[in-house]
Amino acid sequence: MKRTRIVDAIKMTQFGETVNVKGWVRTKRGNKEVNFIALNDGSTINNIQIVADVVKFEEELLKSITTGACLSVTGKLVKSEGAGQAVEIQADEIQIYGLADNTYPLQKKGHTMEFLRGIAHLRPRTNTFGAVLRIRHNMAIAIHQFFHQKGFFYWHSPIITASDCEGAGQMFQVTTQNLYDLKKDENGSIKYDDDFFGKQTSLTVSGQLEGELGATALGAIYTFGPTFRAENSNTPRHLAEFWMIEPEVAFIDLPELMDLEEEFIKFCVNWALENCMDDLTFLNNMIDKGLIERLKSVVATEFVRLPYTEGIKILEEAIAKGKKFEFPVYWGCDLASEHERFLVEEHFQKPVIMINYPKEIKAFYMKQNEDGKTVQGTDVLFPQIGEIIGGSVREESYDKLMERITELNIPMKDMWWYLDTRKYGSCPHAGFGLGFERLMLFVTGMQNIRDVIPFPRTPKTADF
Ligand code: 4AD
Ligand code: MG
Repeated sequence: MKRTRIVDAIKMTQFGETVNVKGWVRTKRGNKEVNFIALNDGSTINNIQIVADVVKFEEELLKSITTGACLSVTGKLVKSEGAGQAVEIQADEIQIYGLADNTYPLQKKGHTMEFLRGIAHLRPRTNTFGAVLRIRHNMAIAIHQFFHQKGFFYWHSPIITASDCEGAGQMFQVTTQNLYDLKKDENGSIKYDDDFFGKQTSLTVSGQLEGELGATALGAIYTFGPTFRAENSNTPRHLAEFWMIEPEVAFIDLPELMDLEEEFIKFCVNWALENCMDDLTFLNNMIDKGLIERLKSVVATEFVRLPYTEGIKILEEAIAKGKKFEFPVYWGCDLASEHERFLVEEHFQKPVIMINYPKEIKAFYMKQNEDGKTVQGTDVLFPQIGEIIGGSVREESYDKLMERITELNIPMKDMWWYLDTRKYGSCPHAGFGLGFERLMLFVTGMQNIRDVIPFPRTPKTADF
C-alpha cells in the first residue's frame, strides 16, 4: 500500500479509510488493552498516534517496539478522542523495519545541546533538530526564490581557488603533495610545481571575486555555497565551514545595496513566518519565548542606516555615561560584537546597517570615499547575532584598486583576471555576503551556530 506522509495523514478527514504510514517511534505507552505509539517520519514536527489493540498483535511484537524503532503501520484513520491530535490510526498491521534497543541514545528525556552535538548522526531525529533542519531547507528555497524572481542568476564560484578574497590568510590549503616529504627550493620555500594544480591552492573563503566576473557579464548574480575559514574562533557564531549567499550586482550604488540587503533579509524571515509556523511555534515554546515576536518585528521595522563615524560617537557617549565595554572604542577600531550588540539591542533596538568604515579595517576591494579615509562597506548588524551581512560597493577604478593592492602588499600574480574587470568595461557594482548559518541562528532562536548546520566543523572538531 502506498505510504502517506505523516504531515499529510494528520490533515486528512477521510475517517474510516485505510492508510499506511512509516516512521520512527518517539514514545510508546499503554495498558493491558491498548498501546499508544507516537510515530514521526520527519515530514513534520507532529507525531501521529498509533493505537494498537493488544489482542490484535503478538505480545512479543508489541514489546519489542521501543523508542527509536522504525515501523510501517497500516490501519484505519479515525478521529482522535484524545487531546493534542485530530486523527489517529487504529493499527491493523505493524511491520518492524528496525529495532532500537535500550542503548539508543535518544530516549524520551530532554538532552543538552552539548550532548546532542556528540551524536550529530542521530540528532536530526529529535524535535528540535527536525524543526531546525526543515527551516534550513525552507530558507534555502526562500533564497533561490528571492533572487530568481528578481532576475538574478545562480552562479557557481569555484570552491578550490588560488586567491584570498578577504586577504586575511585564513585559508585551508588543498594539496596532493606528500606532506612527509615536501619538495623545497634552495630558499626553503615549498615547490608547488609538482603539486596537483602546479601552484598553491586553498578552499575558498568567499565566492565574491569570481562573483564579480558574473555580475560584470550577466548583470546580477548570486552564489550560494560552502565557504571555509581557518580562523581559530571558538565562538557560538563561527564555523570553519559555513554557507554563504553572495549576490553581486552591476550598476547599483550604496543606497541601492542597502535596500537590497534589507529587502532580502526581510523576505527570508517572512518566508519562515509563512511556511514554517509549526516548527517556529515549537522553537518558540521550547527554545526562545521571544522568537516569533522578534521575527515579526524585524519584518515590520525599517533598519537604521548608520555611518561608522556616528556609531563611534554613540558608543563614546555611552561610555561617558558609564557604559562598560571589554574592548576600547576609538575612531578606527574594528567594532567588537559587544559594541555592535549595544547599538542594535540597546541604543536603536532595531537592525542597523553600518556604512563608511575606515579603510584600514576593511578588505582591499571596497570603494574608496572622497575623504580618503573611509570605504563604502556595509555591515548589517542584528539583535542576538551581531554581524549577519558584510558587503560593499566595489572599487571600480583600476588605478585606485591597484594603489590599494600595492599598499596592502597583496600578492597579485593570481589576481590578473580580477583586475581585467577594471581594465575592460569597468562598471560601478556592489554586493554582499550573508552567512547562512547566522541567518539560521536568527530565524530559529538557537544559541549556538553548531546547532543550525547538520555537521558543524570547528577547531578540533570534524567528526561525522
Ligand atoms: O564579512 P565577510 O567576511 O564578507 C565577505 O566574505 C565578502 N566577500 C562578502 C561579499 O561582499 N560578497 O563574510 C560575510 C558574512 C558575515 O557577515 C557573516 O554573516 C558570515 O559571512 N561569516 C561567517 N559565518 C559563520 N562562520 C564564520 N567563520 C563566518 N565568517 C563570516
Ligand atoms: Mg565581515
